[in-house]
Amino acid sequence: MGEIILKTNDLTVDFKVKKNVFGKADRLSAVHNANIEIKKGEIYGLVGESGCGKTTLANAILGFVPITSGSFEAFGHTIDAKTGAAEWKDARRHMQTVFQDPYSSLNARFTVWQIISEPLYIAGERDERVLCERAAALVEKVGLSLTDLDRYIFEFSGGQRQRIAIARALITNAELIICDEPTSALDVSVHSQICNLLLDLREEFGLTYLFISHNLSLIKHITDHMAVMYLGEILESGATDEIFKNPQSPYTKALMSAILEVNPKEKRERIILSGEARSPINPPNLCRFAGRCGEACELCHNAPLPDFKKIGDDHFARCHLIGKGK
Ligand SMILES: Nc1ncnc2c1ncn2[C@@H]1O[C@H](COP(=O)(O)OP(=O)(O)O)[C@@H](O)[C@H]1O
Ligand code: SF4
Ligand SMILES: [Mg+2]
Repeated sequence: MGEIILKTNDLTVDFKVKKNVFGKADRLSAVHNANIEIKKGEIYGLVGESGCGKTTLANAILGFVPITSGSFEAFGHTIDAKTGAAEWKDARRHMQTVFQDPYSSLNARFTVWQIISEPLYIAGERDERVLCERAAALVEKVGLSLTDLDRYIFEFSGGQRQRIAIARALITNAELIICDEPTSALDVSVHSQICNLLLDLREEFGLTYLFISHNLSLIKHITDHMAVMYLGEILESGATDEIFKNPQSPYTKALMSAILEVNPKEKRERIILSGEARSPINPPNLCRFAGRCGEACELCHNAPLPDFKKIGDDHFARCHLIGKGK
């Protein structure tokens, strides 16, 4: 692992939403000044509760939603709100996605080989024999058989559909695979099978993953680096094992307490979040977690969230309490 293949620079995505009867547009701050760095060959986890902006961050990188401000660097390109379509397309061809729901993300009218090879078709390959051969080469890699190629998606279980979606993500030899909650819609019994498949394929094809999940146990198990996001803002990031050993943000601690309580050796108690979550619409320039944070002090309600502080070699967090002996 070494070279950085994707780096965001204060990436921000706002959505305009209508609030009042006069139709005045309000700003929904979905992602605010996000900075992540993904190294070649690693699994980078993005974790946080539903609605915190994980998918929007991925969508901004993929060009599915417009960037409001900031930029990202990937595969020799720097992409921002003003980048033209051709440059976007060139950066985008190095990335593919595996979505949360394999029931709705795959075209029910296509056969398996058509679904798997479609990204190659979109990239310009028109020879049906080549498309079919490339799909055949991948279908077994994801644990299905050649006889599945002519079947339709309704004939498969959720886990099998996600395997098809993974084969589809690999067909263009993309280097970065963005997996957005790839196991959330599946039975718990197949979660580990899909995760193990992703790990095996990383080895075999030298892949890098941005792995999005609201499930911190999964993030702990599978990722090398991670970022913890709350209401559009990254509060802690770095090496996954460093963060788990020494979490700094009260929000990270609360998320972790929910999974550590099952370990009887752990002394930590579960932190129940109370209070009201802030609205992402026109948020004030304060810590967005303040309304629910059990450790919030006066500063948290009156002063902007401070910048990231270095906690360890590969660990950063932002919170008013850091360095204050708490
Ligand atoms: N196209 C959109 N228009 C307006 N608001 C959106 C849009 N997409 C997402 N949002 C809002 O942005 C916030 C982040 O959503 P999302 O990125 O889907 O979160 P997550 O993936 O972490 O669950 C939410 O408040 C959501 O309602
Ligand atoms: S800045 Fe304040 S409100 Fe925000 S996480 Fe830290 S202590 Fe809690
Ligand atoms: Mg999402």
